[in-house]
Amino acid sequence: MPGKEGPNAVKPIRVALLGCGTVGTEVVRLLTDQADDLTQRIGAPVELAGIAVRRPNKHREVPEHLLTTDAAALVTSADVDVVVEVIGGIDPTRGLLLDALRAGKSVVTANKALLAEHGPDLFEAADASGADLYFEAAVAGAIPLLRPLRESLAGDRITRVMGIVNGTTNFILSAMDATGAGYAETLEEASRLGYAEADPTADVDGFDAASKAAILASLAFHTRVTAADVYREGIRAVSAADIAAARGLGRTVKLLAICERVTAPSGQESVAVRVHPAMIPRTHPLASVNGAFNAVFVEADAAGEMMFYGQGAGGAPTASAVLGDLVAVARNQVAGGRGPRESAYAALPAQPMGHTPTRYHISLDVADKAGVLSQVAAVFAEHDVSIAAVRQEGRVEDASLVIVTHAATDAALRSTVDKIGGLPVVRDVVSVMRVEGEE
Ligand code: NDP
Ligand code: HSE
Repeated sequence: MPGKEGPNAVKPIRVALLGCGTVGTEVVRLLTDQADDLTQRIGAPVELAGIAVRRPNKHREVPEHLLTTDAAALVTSADVDVVVEVIGGIDPTRGLLLDALRAGKSVVTANKALLAEHGPDLFEAADASGADLYFEAAVAGAIPLLRPLRESLAGDRITRVMGIVNGTTNFILSAMDATGAGYAETLEEASRLGYAEADPTADVDGFDAASKAAILASLAFHTRVTAADVYREGIRAVSAADIAAARGLGRTVKLLAICERVTAPSGQESVAVRVHPAMIPRTHPLASVNGAFNAVFVEADAAGEMMFYGQGAGGAPTASAVLGDLVAVARNQVAGGRGPRESAYAALPAQPMGHTPTRYHISLDVADKAGVLSQVAAVFAEHDVSIAAVRQEGRVEDASLVIVTHAATDAALRSTVDKIGGLPVVRDVVSVMRVEGEE
């Protein structure tokens, strides 16, 4: 074990922890419980220099002398080597982490919102001072995903990253699928069970998944992708009818984050990044990812298809990823080196959603009489939306008509559905949803 005392003692790595909530508390626990193992793995002991919180009186679980409300002073203290940020949000974390990086402190953060909005500023500050910036916990919690993209697959050409990266919405959609209940009552149940936050906006409106998609696309395609480049739809509009329609066709509904390398209509290689609910076949591996779990598919030219699966949230799983980063940064410091820098040399443009064709499932209630199918099909043809499959089931007084299209743009599909909804023979447009995971 590296010596802790005497003239040849190894200098400890001193850590400033910003935030001591769900994740921070577990970071402190792991640092304490595994202190001896971490020392062996790093080659130097890791010590907490201070813990910044808002309300020190609330934190009886950590030594009182470490607590401070002065995060600004802590991050630039000469006594600190590494800053671990688990506060969340943009303010004051952006300023704190920029100050830390400018002062040469390496940073480990779980903050996807900050990285997706201000990642380039943070990387520039890290480069200017030669500090490390690690953020494995920001996407898919405990799942080692960013390091494989950033390091293991650095010799390959990644073409697609698609997955379930938000546990709250996956819990809600899984429960709707299992019970047949509607969105509002399932959200209420998820909140009661502690799976959805008091303000679920970031999760259910897709902001959280969009931040994660921006981070994944940036790493996968060596391009700066920010949250503003990501097309985003949440799950509020997913109805029990959508879920039932999916079920009837052997599909289920998932909120997907999809990052693709595409060729734009101009011929320019681009990136298309989107987050939206989609029907996927029940036989697709992502269909069996239930509850709060996350899973991500990566496709690369040489490596082929890979799937990463595990716990995407929670104090201990997220702290595991934070600790992994802390060990990496500490090892770099002991060795006198640096980890990987930002790789954004490809600078591919972001393709707007309007140019990204996707396939759709449309479910209609129609009058059950001659000529209905041909009237509906004519509207599709008029808007140049090609039909891949049609299923009609007669009922007592009307019929259910289900149409799956070939790839079409949002604009074409929207005008098609608007016109179909106005046909006298169409009683109701029951469900319109994108289809993924089948060719
Ligand atoms: P919590 O809300 O549980 O904890 C936040 C902590 O930050 C609290 O200790 C709070 O102090 C402290 N804090 C808030 N504002 C300040 C401030 N201005 N100065 C100093 N301290 C402050 O958050 P989580 O632990 O859940 O999340 C932390 C980060 O990890 C976020 O970026 C989140 O997105 C990310 N993350 C979280 C996951 C999870 O499952 N929870 C999963 C993956 C990532 P006090 O306690 O005194 O109020
Ligand atoms: N709110 C996030 C989720 C936490 O539900 O997945 C993990 O980032």
